[in-house]
Amino acid sequence: MSRDSNRADLLIRNATLIDGSGAAARHGSLAVRDDRIVALGTLDGWTGATDVDAGGKALAPGFIDVHTHDDRALIANPGMDCKVSQGVTTVVTGNCGVSLAPLAIDRRPPPPLDLICEDPAGFFADFADYLSFLDREPPATNALAQVGHSSLRAGALDSLDRPATSAEVAAMRGKLEESLEAGAIGLSTGLFYPPATAAPTEEVIELAKALRQAKALHTTHMRDEADHVTESLEETFRIGREAQVPVVISHHKCAGQANYGRSAETLKLIGATREKQHVGLDVYPYVAGSTMLDADCLADASRVVVSWSIPHPEAAGRDLEDIAADWGVAVEEAVARLTPAGGIFFMMDEADVQRILAFPHSMVGSDGLPHDSHPHPRLWGTFPRVLGHYSRDLGLFSLEEAVRKMTGLPASEFGLTDRGRLAVGAAADLVLFDPEEIIDAATFDAPKTPARGIREVWVNGRSVWRDGATTGARPGRALRLQSLTVPSAA
Ligand code: ZN
Ligand code: CU
Repeated sequence: MSRDSNRADLLIRNATLIDGSGAAARHGSLAVRDDRIVALGTLDGWTGATDVDAGGKALAPGFIDVHTHDDRALIANPGMDCKVSQGVTTVVTGNCGVSLAPLAIDRRPPPPLDLICEDPAGFFADFADYLSFLDREPPATNALAQVGHSSLRAGALDSLDRPATSAEVAAMRGKLEESLEAGAIGLSTGLFYPPATAAPTEEVIELAKALRQAKALHTTHMRDEADHVTESLEETFRIGREAQVPVVISHHKCAGQANYGRSAETLKLIGATREKQHVGLDVYPYVAGSTMLDADCLADASRVVVSWSIPHPEAAGRDLEDIAADWGVAVEEAVARLTPAGGIFFMMDEADVQRILAFPHSMVGSDGLPHDSHPHPRLWGTFPRVLGHYSRDLGLFSLEEAVRKMTGLPASEFGLTDRGRLAVGAAADLVLFDPEEIIDAATFDAPKTPARGIREVWVNGRSVWRDGATTGARPGRALRLQSLTVPSAA
């Protein structure tokens, strides 16, 4: 080989390579030219314009956050500190039925659409315009964008408390098809939420049929994650079956004390269904969820913390019970005074969280809410918490398996053929971290705290996070739908 063939733009030497497939880590080096991995292994005789001695630390594919609400964060905070500080290099947006496009609206958007944007002018009427905005003003991370069913409904229906008429379904389907053509990767639903609860299963099936031809997927915040979680799973499977598309169950959980322990049953059902059709799922590593503050959400929660409030911004970070006590009112009345608002709800069983995390088909998704004034710590802590707390400290699974759940598995579920792996030809999305040190530092009291143990993060071959700070580079791309290969049922 000539000397030039051994020259890299970036050479990371002396690393523990974790390739994202779940295979055992091995010692070696990795070479990058431009935005691609060009060699990995021993690499004696290679030189790099930038040379990094990894000091034996772990080098993995950049993490893919499959469940985010970063639609507008990519525009408002393009440095994406909360994500790159965890080693995340790609985010999937438009979850839970809520997306920034396509929607033309002239009033404050109904909750939970306001979780991603309160200003009607912040939404994009055309999906193509949203993606080309990201092309022109790139963020630090890559993005894969979905269309939200509730956003479609808010644009097509004059009132959201009823099923869509066939003309409205056709209008929504037209918007969805246009969006898929522009590069949307799928359709999400949030049947749990007020803008979509009145939508019958058939409405979703009609829309999801548009996904089949585009080879896109369907993700869902199911109608019920509590007492009727198995019925909701069956509804999700039916949508996938009748529309013939892969489905992904978002942030799988069994909410409410009466349902603690039921993940044994739900995972068995998911496992059995996977023999017949494609079902994926994601999970975040906490016993508390977070969403809009609503009296309906109180029943399943043992504790509620306010994450933001328009009339009472000073309430953010405080327990709802303390606020109600201070005001001398019932919690329901406190909720009414605080809204529009968001909350953090303690409503899960630690044993369920661990069982779902350990399920071999579960991916990791943060579900972080980037615009909350006092966000759930999952926004800044999810990935290091899985690696440090659940894998290393509790030994729930190996480090290689933890990395697979954040890289190789989501890449295959979301049709990313050239990411999520350390392999020659793959995109150079990389994270260098210390497996001994890595841990989340964000807490429910101090949620905006960067994790520890992430040394450096590269997106498309360019460094975006180094020594505890963003570099200022914005090499992210709005990735279009690649031919989403439906992974085999097994
Ligand atoms: Zn959700
Ligand atoms: Cu969500």
